[in-house]
Amino acid sequence: MLAGALGGLVQSAFPPGAHSALSPAGRQAQLVDRLWDAMYLVSVVVFVLVVGALFWAALRRRQPTEVADSPGREPSLRASVLGATALTIVILFAFLIADLATGRAITAGPGQEALQIRVTGHQWWWEVQYRDSLPQNWATTANEVHIPVGRPVVFELRSADVIHSLWAPNLSGKRDLIPGDETSLWFQADTPGVYRGQCAEFCGHQHAKMAFLVVAEHPDSFARWLDRQRDTARTPTHPLARRGQEVFLGSPCVMCHAIAGTPAGSRVGPDLTHLASRRTIAAGTLPNTRGNLAGWILDPQRVKPGAQMPPTQLGSEDLQALLAYLETLE
Ligand code: CUA
Repeated sequence: MLAGALGGLVQSAFPPGAHSALSPAGRQAQLVDRLWDAMYLVSVVVFVLVVGALFWAALRRRQPTEVADSPGREPSLRASVLGATALTIVILFAFLIADLATGRAITAGPGQEALQIRVTGHQWWWEVQYRDSLPQNWATTANEVHIPVGRPVVFELRSADVIHSLWAPNLSGKRDLIPGDETSLWFQADTPGVYRGQCAEFCGHQHAKMAFLVVAEHPDSFARWLDRQRDTARTPTHPLARRGQEVFLGSPCVMCHAIAGTPAGSRVGPDLTHLASRRTIAAGTLPNTRGNLAGWILDPQRVKPGAQMPPTQLGSEDLQALLAYLETLE
């Protein structure tokens, strides 16, 4: 697109597929990108014309007597001002129409074969649920949304507390998640990739660390992923991991987190059934590594001050066992 040429400088700062509305990976984002391109191009032309006129006026040599001596200039001055004003109105009106047309094209019905995903905003993480006519086929995850490429996806958006806003700039515009109301947004990814998304409505202390990933993948690998997510957690076989499960079930972790297949079933915090399959922890704040997980469990407030998760007091043996267990949750 035009962004490739004009925004090349900006884009080169990001790896391909990163968080950028200028690298659209689907039709909705492409429409937004096209509108941006048009506005950017017209703005550049207007800017150049205005600055050119300013320099022309400033550098033109005029005798002090010239103005008084030539009253005939008045009409041409008036014509220029009227012309510029009319042109401005025409341009703004054209943008208004283009904006409405883009909005309509983006929200036009996704069709019957759309995949439904329920996303609930929490301070400060995203609950993601794949529902099914059979409740045993539901899959719940957090902060990482997998979608198949080439198929429309409808997001049913809710909030558990305050207003959040779902925004994956490579794929679509934003839509607010409003407490007590259900909104929806749909888009389709056409290019496989991992795209970063971000809460786009100020929602409290850790609004900035309320990110998520959209993993757009081939329908087959998406189906395999969803099948795995529907499974309950495997019972650990290694003694250390078994001990870790006991630590988990005997600690305050169970007050907030669920692991399907164990007695832990609370939905206050993210579902951990397949925690190890996710790329990040703490809503996109840290890569999901053993060290980061350990730091996060012991002192979440250090990573994300104000987060709802309290620190967990664990001896180093218990911590190692717990980490070994959490790593089996693939
Ligand atoms: Cu959630 Cu900002």
